[in-house]
Amino acid sequence: MSLAEKLDRYNMEYWDFKNSKIDGIHKIASYPAPMVAPMQHELLQLLVDENPAYHKMLDPFHGTGVTLVEGQQIGLEVFGIDINPYAHIIALAKLEKYDPNEIQMSNEILLQHIEVLKKSGDYTIHCFDNINKWFRNDVINDLSVIRTAIMLQNNCKNRRYYWLCFGEIVKKYSNTRTSTFKLHAKDEEKIKNMENNIYEDFKNKIEETYKLIGYPPLGKYRLECGDSNSIMQKIPKETFDIICTSPPYGDNGTTVTYGQFSMLQLLWIDSNDFQYDISSIDNFSKLDSLSLGGTLSRKNAFYCSQLVNEYIEKISPHKRKKIMQFYADYENSFRAMTRLLKKGGRMVLTLGNRKVDGIEFPFTEINVDLAKHYNLSVEYVITRNILNKRMPRKVSRLSDGQSVSSMSKETTLLLKKGCER
Ligand SMILES: C[S@@+](CC[C@H](N)C(=O)[O-])C[C@H]1O[C@@H](n2cnc3c(N)ncnc32)[C@H](O)[C@@H]1O
Repeated sequence: MSLAEKLDRYNMEYWDFKNSKIDGIHKIASYPAPMVAPMQHELLQLLVDENPAYHKMLDPFHGTGVTLVEGQQIGLEVFGIDINPYAHIIALAKLEKYDPNEIQMSNEILLQHIEVLKKSGDYTIHCFDNINKWFRNDVINDLSVIRTAIMLQNNCKNRRYYWLCFGEIVKKYSNTRTSTFKLHAKDEEKIKNMENNIYEDFKNKIEETYKLIGYPPLGKYRLECGDSNSIMQKIPKETFDIICTSPPYGDNGTTVTYGQFSMLQLLWIDSNDFQYDISSIDNFSKLDSLSLGGTLSRKNAFYCSQLVNEYIEKISPHKRKKIMQFYADYENSFRAMTRLLKKGGRMVLTLGNRKVDGIEFPFTEINVDLAKHYNLSVEYVITRNILNKRMPRKVSRLSDGQSVSSMSKETTLLLKKGCER
């Protein structure tokens, strides 16, 4: 039975995963718009069942690493890229795995260190630009104690685990609103009334998280933090059997500000324990402008889909440049992905159509067009209702003050490259 015939046997509503919630390992940290783990698992399993020779998978926009973890669980060797160091930190913890006994012992030492530092006052108060806007003084003090205690731990891998836990506590006790991914301070009254249970929350977090991560490590993985276009250029062609990803649907600034969502955590976490370019967090909007479509006049598209030209005509002239830039960056990534896919390999893209000026950007159709142009055949299309995605109803605001609604449907395209292996 062909893959399409197997997929035909599913009821389309099945893919909504109505009752599924973020669970297990994927619960350890929060990040915008994570993918549905059981769906990724099932699709990858179908691909591997169809062709047991598949063993290398790439996700060039890995976010929280949902696809990487699910790929690893079914025995694939996984390679992930993301420009956002916070996404990198989360995915790394999930793939690296932690020995529960070792973490338990290390937790005790860390908690003792925290107590000693609290009593002695021998810690450094952390500081960065505008810290007082985003954190209350007592919060800065308590987070500084924990930060110093983590830095005193000898084992770098364990420190990475603590940074992940710490990042979640930093976010919880920051003054930013939870109703938007952008940095936007809460009302003064709310900030004043926020209860401080930092030490207790951190203790609970480190004692609970490792139980979700699972042990021992399952297979080979590699993660890179940086621009996927540049990183993909350096990988030999036809390296991967499967490329499975959910790319950004538009530039971060006007769709999902992954960078702003992550900045406060990153400003507290010690970057020396990770491999990423520290200049990417130089200022609060840097990460978003480094992301796809974030910088105007970076590169031109090689193949400009007619659908993009038609779309551009329909929206306000001052918004056209941004859309073109996003498309150009995305098309570069698409081309790089097809170069890295082996002949007979599969590309699985989960996509959404955002609106600009109330008009839907036909990102799915544009991807179908790109697929044809780059010699990939469309094997199957799944459209699902997004029921549980971690997204505020309105995700962002454009410069003209209009809100952009978050997507309520997404499409998964199953593409196949060229001739059989
Ligand atoms: C839709 S999210 C991925 C969601 C993800 N699949 C998950 O499960 O969470 C898109 C990701 O693309 C990343 N991104 C945007 N531009 C990038 C670039 N130029 N290079 C690498 N990653 C980029 C963002 O940081 C974000 O994490």
